[in-house]
Amino acid sequence: MTTVEIRPASADDSEQIAHVVRESWLATNRNLLPADTVKRLEHSTDMSQFAAENWQNIWVAEARANDVAEIVGVVGMNPTGVIWMLYVLPGFQGCGVGSGLYDVAIGTLKRSGQRKAMLEVLAANENALAFYRSRGWVPEGRRTEHIPGFRFTAVRMGLALA
Ligand SMILES: CC(C)(COP(=O)(O)OP(=O)(O)OC[C@H]1O[C@@H](n2cnc3c(N)ncnc32)[C@H](O)[C@@H]1OP(=O)(O)O)[C@@H](O)C(=O)NCCC(=O)NCCS
Repeated sequence: MTTVEIRPASADDSEQIAHVVRESWLATNRNLLPADTVKRLEHSTDMSQFAAENWQNIWVAEARANDVAEIVGVVGMNPTGVIWMLYVLPGFQGCGVGSGLYDVAIGTLKRSGQRKAMLEVLAANENALAFYRSRGWVPEGRRTEHIPGFRFTAVRMGLALA
């Protein structure tokens, strides 16, 4: 039997957090990218360095089966109310893991006195847009940006917490 526990991240989790972000992000956005950019991202270590510096603001969903534990979902937020990542491994999507992490993020922001939550999601990511819309988030603007090999439009969304 597989059980899933949601817990605060620890400093030791950064490699696994980076793995979840990379696999989930690429599974969703691979089709938007040229092959050489996909290859570069597959081997990038930027996210594990970032997670190692920011683990205090990250929660993880850890699946356990036969005493083997694996991080399968991650959420990151900061004290200003921004949810800056929410990713679930493709094989664990659609099972409630994302909703569980999301609820923890919103609860944490509310307890810290935030009156508004904010995030950005790629305009092409219809699943994620639907996920947030069904939870009351409202689009507030768009921005287009270039990273090497990738031009993207992001939708800024907001949610009143008070
Ligand atoms: C968006 C995401 C975090 C949702 O996590 P999840 O664990 O799949 O979500 P849940 O199982 O809690 O279900 C969320 C909703 O999707 C629906 N759903 C059902 N099966 C699904 C499936 N196979 N894939 C995606 N969503 C599914 C659920 O019914 C639920 O509907 P609701 O919003 O009306 O409640 C996850 O799909 C993901 O990591 N996507 C890729 C990365 C991403 O887009 N991140 C967000 C932008 S930064």
